[in-house]
Amino acid sequence: MYTGEKVKLRAYRREDVALAQQYLNDAETKRFLMPGVPYPFTLEEENKWFENISSHKDIYSFAVETIAEGKYIGGCGVNGLDWKNSVATVGIFIGDKNYWGKGYGTDAMKVLLKFIFEQMNINKVKLFVYSFNERAVKSYEKCGFVREGVLKQEIFRDGKYNDEYVMAILKEEYFQQKFI
Ligand SMILES: CC(C)(COP(=O)(O)OP(=O)(O)OC[C@H]1O[C@@H](n2cnc3c(N)ncnc32)[C@H](O)[C@@H]1OP(=O)(O)O)[C@@H](O)C(=O)NCCC(=O)NCCS
Repeated sequence: MYTGEKVKLRAYRREDVALAQQYLNDAETKRFLMPGVPYPFTLEEENKWFENISSHKDIYSFAVETIAEGKYIGGCGVNGLDWKNSVATVGIFIGDKNYWGKGYGTDAMKVLLKFIFEQMNINKVKLFVYSFNERAVKSYEKCGFVREGVLKQEIFRDGKYNDEYVMAILKEEYFQQKFI
């Protein structure tokens, strides 16, 4: 059900944890992901995260696996859920840099949007992205996200304050683009 053209979204497995730690400790990847001080995660922290993912009722975390090789290359999912207003906040990372810029992340996000709009019945999906992450902005636009706002000087990174964008897609926009 959760399969795209290049990737499928599946549950995380314990054997993904070591690779997840390696992916998330890469300085270039971390630069795009963590608002805080970019400091390495320990294997213990990663294991604790794995133990906790199934116990959070409003978090849906998927491992992203390539269809061709069956390789775990990253993750995506719903990090925040506001059922009353029907808004989901999502995040994504492709950790294996060999797969950057080749459509894998966009495909994973499209599968995630399908899951959220067609299975969870959510009205709006939003995300946050740093202004210097041009690859991600472009990928999100390809999925139908539009920029709704700018949080000025929100992220101090690499010696300066950078803006953060809020991007979103509504259910009606998702279905419009799907049936065009
Ligand atoms: C962001 C991410 C999910 C996008 O997935 P992806 O598979 O790399 O994206 P795609 O290949 O589908 O699309 C990227 C687009 O940006 C373009 N692009 C690639 N590198 C770029 C760069 N340095 N600057 C501007 N555009 C760039 C590509 O040409 C492509 O556009 P096109 O299809 O019109 O040619 C993935 O790169 C990633 O996980 N990066 C590291 C972590 C991260 O940034 N997560 C998101 C945090 S908000």
